[in-house]
Amino acid sequence: MQIIILENAEQVASGAAQWVAEVIKQKTNPVLGLATGSTPISLYKQLVEYHQKGQLSFENVTTFNLDEYHNIEAENPQSYRTFMKQNLFDHVNIDQEKTYLPTCRNDQNPRVQGLAYEEQIKNAGGVDLQILGIGANGHIGFNEPTSSLASRTRIKTLTKQTLQDNSRLFKKDEYQPTMAMTMGIATILDARYVLLMATGKNKAAAVKQMITGPVTAMCPASALQMHENAIILIDKDAASELTEQEYFQWANQEHQKINQTFGLFI
Ligand code: F6R
Repeated sequence: MQIIILENAEQVASGAAQWVAEVIKQKTNPVLGLATGSTPISLYKQLVEYHQKGQLSFENVTTFNLDEYHNIEAENPQSYRTFMKQNLFDHVNIDQEKTYLPTCRNDQNPRVQGLAYEEQIKNAGGVDLQILGIGANGHIGFNEPTSSLASRTRIKTLTKQTLQDNSRLFKKDEYQPTMAMTMGIATILDARYVLLMATGKNKAAAVKQMITGPVTAMCPASALQMHENAIILIDKDAASELTEQEYFQWANQEHQKINQTFGLFI
């Protein structure tokens, strides 16, 4: 794991944007794994800005989102398709036919839909860089605690904590879905690079468990310890429970010298 501790959320967003831009520029047909939620919003803002300044083209980019609510219309204001359109897709030159989310209607078998999503990812050549946030309970995607570390795209029932955390995004009388399709932990681990962003004190305990706790289904993000190329971009608040902060800062300075000479990726 490469742990990068930055001053604030703004720096986390621009750090993440640099990694994403680098993948897009280096690969002929870049495949990005995308996340929704509050954390990546400023990353997407930065990417839109790069695009508007003529510095970044999404022409050849394919995207796969981590998750989508079960049985939700794409046009529903609460769908993750709508979130992605509002925050990224509608503002860049991406071919929206090449933007995928793991959808599943009531009349569709979630197992078949899950397998089909895995197949689509494979056919696109696999994910080059997977963007992740982390839940206060350690979830990645909607892989809630106790999710199998070998899980693949499937339907999950959300925990009370996740429903509570996300209730801020729904109006008082609005229906809040309780189930979602999500890439599995093994799906996420298949990405060539994973980049997890975390900001704020409410993520500090989960971040500590992810980095220094045991690899356990009780903290799905801890599975990233088993990933060869995991980049963890966090602000000081999210890092506040880590006792190894000084070492991480030092190691990162050393890494930066290597990055400056050889670039961010192999
Ligand atoms: C979103 C997702 C979730 C979020 C996590 C953090 O697609 O998969 O795992 O990344 O719940 O959400 P925020 O960023 O809103 O704190």
